Amino acid sequence: MYPRIARFRTADDLRAHCRTISAPIPLDDTILSAAEGSPLAAPITIGGRRVGNRWCIHPMEGWDASADGQPTDTLLRRWQRFGESGAKLIWGGEAVAVLAEGRANPNQLLAGACGREGFARLLETVQTAHRERHGTADDLLVALQLTHSGRFSKPTSAGRQPRIAYHHPLLDARHGVDPHDQACVLTDDDVERLIDAYVSAARDAAAVGFEMVDLKACHGYLVHEFLSARRRPGRFGGDFGGRTRLLRTLVERVRAECPGLMIGVRLSLFDTVPWHKVGDHGEPFPFPVAIPYDCGFGVDEQHPLRADLAEPIALLELLRDLGVVSVNLSAGSPYTVPHIQRPAAFPPSDGYPPPEDPLVGVWRQIEAAARAKAAVPGLVMVGSGYTYLQEYVAHAAQAVVRAGWIDIVGLGRMVLSYPELPADALAGTTLARTSICRTFSDCTTAPRHGLRSGCYPLDDFYKQLEPEASRVKALKAAAGSHRGP
Ligand SMILES: Cc1cc2nc3c(=O)[nH]c(=O)nc-3n(C[C@H](O)[C@H](O)[C@H](O)COP(=O)(O)O)c2cc1C
Ligand code: SF4
Repeated sequence: MYPRIARFRTADDLRAHCRTISAPIPLDDTILSAAEGSPLAAPITIGGRRVGNRWCIHPMEGWDASADGQPTDTLLRRWQRFGESGAKLIWGGEAVAVLAEGRANPNQLLAGACGREGFARLLETVQTAHRERHGTADDLLVALQLTHSGRFSKPTSAGRQPRIAYHHPLLDARHGVDPHDQACVLTDDDVERLIDAYVSAARDAAAVGFEMVDLKACHGYLVHEFLSARRRPGRFGGDFGGRTRLLRTLVERVRAECPGLMIGVRLSLFDTVPWHKVGDHGEPFPFPVAIPYDCGFGVDEQHPLRADLAEPIALLELLRDLGVVSVNLSAGSPYTVPHIQRPAAFPPSDGYPPPEDPLVGVWRQIEAAARAKAAVPGLVMVGSGYTYLQEYVAHAAQAVVRAGWIDIVGLGRMVLSYPELPADALAGTTLARTSICRTFSDCTTAPRHGLRSGCYPLDDFYKQLEPEASRVKALKAAAGSHRGP
């Protein structure tokens, strides 16, 4: 067990611990309010648009759209809370599938079905909540995240129906893909149709007033998988130009056909080989058989436990030159390497105990993002993976933004348990310690079992949501990981 964050009395205590584990996360001594000159209160311009502060809300799905892909009340509650948070950049809200076959679960928002009316409800909900709580939404920028879940598609309750860019020597076995099945590999014609679906969804988003779309290229989903498709023949695989063609074409087509709509990209900046639970601990899949490891993006082919940012940085330059206004930098995948993607004290039910102090995972993302920012300074960048810092999230966010390591700090899980944290930090209000996310991972465990996602331990709404709340407790008890506040 690694030391709990709540145990550190001061930022200095935490800083000293971080030094001992070679994770020198910069931390301010205190949280500064806007009136005290917090760097997080400074506006920033994205694509010519003024954005009122440096807090962002990351996209987070709740597995709670209707079966036909429309927003529901619980889904809109989440968007409302995102709006109330005080963050001035809402990056995507949550992943919206552009095709039914690409839904990650049978209750994911679905572009065509959701249509302009559904999109308008999402936007209105977040803008109205923000305006009511914070006076104006004029400096609030809201993007919609568009996706196809690829290898992780599960469009019906019948289970996974993977659609892949290429056969992966380690992931096929892990996720039940027959390595000889060619029917699940998208053809180049399928890819062309997919591009049309993205453009159509982007057009609908623009029509109802979204100012930006995120062309999601992270977390092992389809567009991300194409970035590592060295083994794929044809136009959309092979060399760097081929592997990036899908993302580049998406950007070009959306720009051409949705004039005025800003484009962002959420990118897994680096990755590693998949990990799994062995006995009572986590370890990487045996990968020496796969060296040189040619199935990663941002991975050192000879030492695939290490990142190699050369290609991701080249891609960021390309995206900037194509007119992408901002990128949201994440890492890895929640299915294959949860400890890299969302550092946590307690693993989700399909994960493994943390193989390192989760602060190392936080630092890995901060440091990689800082290197990307230094290499491609002209692109507005959002950082991820900060929630594990808990009461020190604002201390770190202030320090990294002031240092210019990142432009904007995004929050994921923290906002499920404590949506007002950005507003409280900027107002100089003492943080509500009992609302701070302690990274129990219930919001990941629940959907792994087909349940709606939410903060079951800390959000009263989900504490009382039956039968889900009891089911989550039972799942944790069965896994021997019952933890709660
Ligand atoms: C319940 C849940 C749902 C998520 N859904 C999405 C999503 O739809 N799109 C996305 O890009 N990331 C998604 N993520 C990842 C988060 O945006 C974020 O990158 C991750 O939680 C790490 O940030 P944090 O440490 O602030 O939580 C999700 C995370 C969680 C916990
Ligand atoms: S369930 Fe709540 S406390 Fe646990 S990780 Fe998710 S948001 Fe944090």
